Amino acid sequence: MAILVTGGAGYIGSHTVAALLERGEEVVVLDNLQTGHREALLGGKLYEGDLRDKELLARLFSENEIDAVIHFAANSLVGESMQNPGKYYDNNVFGTLSLLEAMKDADVKRIVFSSTAATYGEPEKVPIEESDRTEPTNVYGETKLMMERMMSWFDKVLGIKYVSLRYFNAAGAHDSGKIGEDHQPESHLIPLVLQTALKQRKHIAIFGDDYATEDGTCIRDYIHVSDLADAHLRAVDYLRKGEESNVFNLGNGQGFSVKEVIETAKKVTGLDIPVVMEARRAGDPAILVASSDKARAVLGWEPKYTDLDKVIASAWSWHQSHPDGYSTNQKGE
Ligand code: UFG
Repeated sequence: MAILVTGGAGYIGSHTVAALLERGEEVVVLDNLQTGHREALLGGKLYEGDLRDKELLARLFSENEIDAVIHFAANSLVGESMQNPGKYYDNNVFGTLSLLEAMKDADVKRIVFSSTAATYGEPEKVPIEESDRTEPTNVYGETKLMMERMMSWFDKVLGIKYVSLRYFNAAGAHDSGKIGEDHQPESHLIPLVLQTALKQRKHIAIFGDDYATEDGTCIRDYIHVSDLADAHLRAVDYLRKGEESNVFNLGNGQGFSVKEVIETAKKVTGLDIPVVMEARRAGDPAILVASSDKARAVLGWEPKYTDLDKVIASAWSWHQSHPDGYSTNQKGE
């Protein structure tokens, strides 16, 4: 039996494919290589194409014996979603509908879903628990919540079981040094800070220092990408055991401010990282920190990269060895 990984050539997808291969799973990947990289795939059988292509999905399910799907394929930029909402409803929501319909036709009953802390919006309290209010403040988070709700009805009506994993801030790279984070354009804090240390950027901009936090900058919960990958394998095992659908937060449970991230990066790299202050970025909540107690208790998940130094050191070794990211473009050309 094989596991289908949609979006398997992306950042978190490729680290999950690597972890699946490491434990001997058969892996099939569907990726349109819009933001994924062919080079990020350390194995598995790639179908290059789009989730919304019904014929391709039908062929993929008929050519492989899939017993579970891990669904990453989606657009995931908050800012872009607020400029082009249609793109997010189309690729994320309609793409997921197309996938669920194909799973129904192929009688595949298990799906692990890549969700986000953005489903909560401005938190009512921290650390955030899974039962807390979900009121997204951007289109990206809204589409991920809609996808979760769609899955919940496909379970109630058709018995397709799902596990939704709501990640906080993914960071770091694979221990092998072969795969890591390469977004074009890059918008995430840790890679931008490290590119500044490498002098690829003049400075890192801090988006607002007037938040209600100790040093005035936003606080986030940074979780290592290989710890996220491990949670997906555990979620597959959970569904294979016949357990009920469920939702889990994935974070370290500890928050760090933007200034603390920059200070830690200075320490880890031993390099100067020039900073400029800028205005707040629209839609940024002041503090996002996860309670991952449920994932620990139910999935037996235990993050290995518990301190920020280790997460940043892991990202740093990737950026040093791959200063321009993957050597080819997304299509591998
Ligand atoms: N930041 C800066 N300067 C930068 C880039 C980021 O100060 O140049 C700040 C942001 O304002 C934010 C923090 O650093 O306070 C982290 O920003 P990221 O863009 O790295 O990550 P986000 O917290 O905005 O977003 C992440 C994921 C989203 C997900 C979200 C959940 O990338 O996909 O967490 O809230 F939706």
